[in-house]
Amino acid sequence: MKKSFDVAIIGGGINGSSIAYQLSKLGKKVVMIEKNHLACEASSAAAGMLAAQAEIEDDGPFFQLALKSQAMFSSLSNELFEITGIDIEFVRKGMIKIAETEEIAKEVRQQAAFQRLWDPEIEWLDSQSIRELEPSLSPDVAGGMFIPNDGHVQPAKLSSAYAKAAEQFGATILKNTEVFSFNYENDRVNGVKTTIGNIDCNQVVLATGAWASKLMRETGLDLSVYPVKGECFSVKTDIPIINRTIFSDKRCYLVPKRNGEILIGATQIDHTFDKRVTPSGIATLVERASQLVPQIKDAPWERVWAGLRPQTGDGLPYLGEHPLWKGLFIAAGHYRNGILLSPVTGMLMADLLDGRPDENLLSAFRIDRHKTWVH
Ligand code: FAD
Ligand code: GLY
Repeated sequence: MKKSFDVAIIGGGINGSSIAYQLSKLGKKVVMIEKNHLACEASSAAAGMLAAQAEIEDDGPFFQLALKSQAMFSSLSNELFEITGIDIEFVRKGMIKIAETEEIAKEVRQQAAFQRLWDPEIEWLDSQSIRELEPSLSPDVAGGMFIPNDGHVQPAKLSSAYAKAAEQFGATILKNTEVFSFNYENDRVNGVKTTIGNIDCNQVVLATGAWASKLMRETGLDLSVYPVKGECFSVKTDIPIINRTIFSDKRCYLVPKRNGEILIGATQIDHTFDKRVTPSGIATLVERASQLVPQIKDAPWERVWAGLRPQTGDGLPYLGEHPLWKGLFIAAGHYRNGILLSPVTGMLMADLLDGRPDENLLSAFRIDRHKTWVH
């Protein structure tokens, strides 16, 4: 194997793979290094929602970043299919953000008014109207925000498509290879130390999700990226129970996939790297999901799983260059929205490494927005 590259990307999740694709397309010699196999962590655990309007309730740089990324999916889906033959299963049938009680209905109604500023097709619907759209919803729900243009993808397929497209443009992908440190000269990174030896490069991107703090500590920077475990289960029916994504605040969501599976997520357990699924976690989800869609309790069981969301101290991802180590970049901390944000992450990071930073979009996500140094 050739051991000298323009860029080494650490982490073969959805964000590492998207960055690898965009950089390779620019003609960079890229190596992506994954300690296990591609998309083996959060990126295959995700439900694949592109839920900018349901998950983000205020305007600001994060919401604008999410909207930009969401708008990229339609053409990205075609582009990746043309290059790789992989169908990322981009489905755009809409979402209903449920208000379970009259009290919550007031908030969701306000959110609908706010979201209409960006998409006039979004509307508040009362209980009867949302049940006309989705007859399996419980008559107890108070109403909901209907987001007709909302969509979702199959995250593992999107991740594979990015990685395969990167390879088509010449990227090297190393699996079962862990990066444990950096090589540098003066204040510039010039390689990584891995379990198969040193790899030389001019630039390094850390895209290691919930593990981002570990390697960053090597550089004296405490980024406080931490894991938030999410457990999920799914059912699979021959006749669809729901056609649209049903999302209830951050308590529970149901995402109907093209193959008849309904993904139901997800718990939120902070600061654990233990990915084992618990009966109590799944029982809570079964209860919440059945309150929304009673038929879920009797639907044929399919599987359970869990993943680790990479959360940060202020809830915003890190997208930028290390404040002291030249040539070292980070793209991590996408928390609940890493699938949604993967297209824009790939594009912004590739442009940044290529010397064309989009300061407008990137400035809120700088690494030094709140410096904490390891002593
Ligand atoms: P990861 O997917 O965690 O990838 C990081 C990779 O780095 C891993 O493969 C890891 O093995 C590797 N790695 C770590 N350290 C090293 C090292 N030293 N050397 C080499 N490799 C290393 N987002 C959405 O947008 N929509 C959703 O519907 C959604 N649903 C979710 C549901 C659940 C249950 C969970 C857990 C998350 C969900 N998310 C969702 C969030 C999304 O999954 C994450 O934000 C996203 O996958 C993060 O991707 P990543 O590439 O940054 O990190
Ligand atoms: N965005 C859904 C989740 O993180 O569970």
